[in-house]
Amino acid sequence: MATVMTEKPKTAPGAAIAVCEGVSRVYRVGGEDVYAVREVSCEIRAGQLVALRGRSGSGKTTLLNILSGLDRPTHGRTLIRGEDTRKLSDRQLTELRRHDIGFIFQAFALLPVLSAYENVELPLRIAGVGARQRQRRATELLELVGLAKRMHHRPFELSGGEQSRVAIARALANEPALIVADEPTGALDSVTGLEIMSLFKRVVEERGVTIIMATHDPTISDLANETLIMSDGRMSHDIPDELKGVGILDAASMPGTLHGEIGMVARRAGLKVHDEAATDRTVPEGTSALPRP
Ligand SMILES: Nc1ncnc2c1ncn2[C@@H]1O[C@H](COP(=O)(O)OP(=O)(O)OP(=O)(O)O)[C@@H](O)[C@H]1O
Ligand SMILES: [Mg+2]
Repeated sequence: MATVMTEKPKTAPGAAIAVCEGVSRVYRVGGEDVYAVREVSCEIRAGQLVALRGRSGSGKTTLLNILSGLDRPTHGRTLIRGEDTRKLSDRQLTELRRHDIGFIFQAFALLPVLSAYENVELPLRIAGVGARQRQRRATELLELVGLAKRMHHRPFELSGGEQSRVAIARALANEPALIVADEPTGALDSVTGLEIMSLFKRVVEERGVTIIMATHDPTISDLANETLIMSDGRMSHDIPDELKGVGILDAASMPGTLHGEIGMVARRAGLKVHDEAATDRTVPEGTSALPRP
């Protein structure tokens, strides 16, 4: 199975990787139907960073679980790389996830007894990749996320930002077509969060993977190619007022101890720092700072 990574067919940029068609996910609670997701149709295309926003309880995690094959819709259908998830057995779906999807959870879910290196290597072991290739690949990925020097630290010996980098490297290990990240910056301070988001952007651009990321941080809309909004289980395309708020890039132009640091991270990520005085905000809320392919 050592060849699994090299034989993997690449998805052409812009091609659909995950598609929802009229998808609803209904839970039966106390004799009543709860629609966690209601009649959602969307398409996640290759080579994009897609942001998923919405207030707490709006259905983001439920939708991510469906798009990544952790869950199946109650109504409608979901296609992952062209496969209808309702027609796949549990085993087939597990295989699809193992090879095509990378996961990053809010708490990063690293194994505490394993070092950063071993955490990244684990999915390669599970996929049956040979020792040499495992070593090459785990080392290369930890270098990519800037953690070469912390490779042999265990999670409790790493900062939150460093742990999230390990989680990103681990999600990339099997060269997935799609990475699903559920509030990966939720537990980080805003500067570290911006660094991690710009690392996502770099990974999308350099590795050609697709990332869909749920987040409460408005800044993501400046980095993402597309922003999807959930509202009471439905998908909408307008950002509701309560989600507008101040993003970290806005904060860069305000007086405060962090603004220099934010500016530095932003410039490194090739982002324009918002200017308070500018009336024609370069990046209107809800749209992309990057040209769509
Ligand atoms: N297993 C379940 N059983 C019953 N209801 C559920 C279940 N999972 C989620 N729900 C309900 O579905 C709705 C959407 O939940 P979901 O976790 O997708 O929201 P979310 O947007 O991810 O919220 P948050 O930002 O707080 O993580 C919520 O009202 C929730 O209570
Ligand atoms: Mg959630």
